Amino acid sequence: MEKTFIMLKPDAVQRGLVGQIIARFEAKGCKLVGMKLMSVDQALAEQHYAEHKGKSFFEPTVQYIMSSPVVAMVWGGKNVVALARELMGATNPANANPGSIRGSFGMDISRNVIHGSDSVASAEREIALYFRPEELCDYRKAGEEWLS
Ligand code: TYD
Ligand code: MG
Repeated sequence: MEKTFIMLKPDAVQRGLVGQIIARFEAKGCKLVGMKLMSVDQALAEQHYAEHKGKSFFEPTVQYIMSSPVVAMVWGGKNVVALARELMGATNPANANPGSIRGSFGMDISRNVIHGSDSVASAEREIALYFRPEELCDYRKAGEEWLS
């Protein structure tokens, strides 16, 4: 089963949006494989955004995800990397479809509520950054048979 890494960023936790956002992944049919509330330190934040090192938004974005706890999650499902990006909406909430998570809950690109891996390779890298293998649950979810 394909997996993706999703982070509910500090603004989502502080604004009390965690439950509503998780509900969208559950309602769509994605399978929760791992989840924890955690603080991100500088080393982890810089590794997370390594592809953006040197860009103008790198430092502020690193500071933002360190500024308060985040919810780190792994979700599974068919084509779940691309599917999660669709559920999230465009990077800039101002341009995101209003039905998407960023479109529903955000106003500004610098506080865009949620992170999701952009490819299967990124998902593997990011899951390994945030989770030990034993923190991921391999289980059969009741009702899975109704989704395929
Ligand atoms: P990026 O990987 O391009 O977007 P996404 O999160 O959709 O994969 O950028 C990483 C984060 O950096 C993005 O979520 C918000 C921040 N960012 C800015 O603050 N300004 C920008 O111009 C861009 C492109 C990103
Ligand atoms: Mg990205």
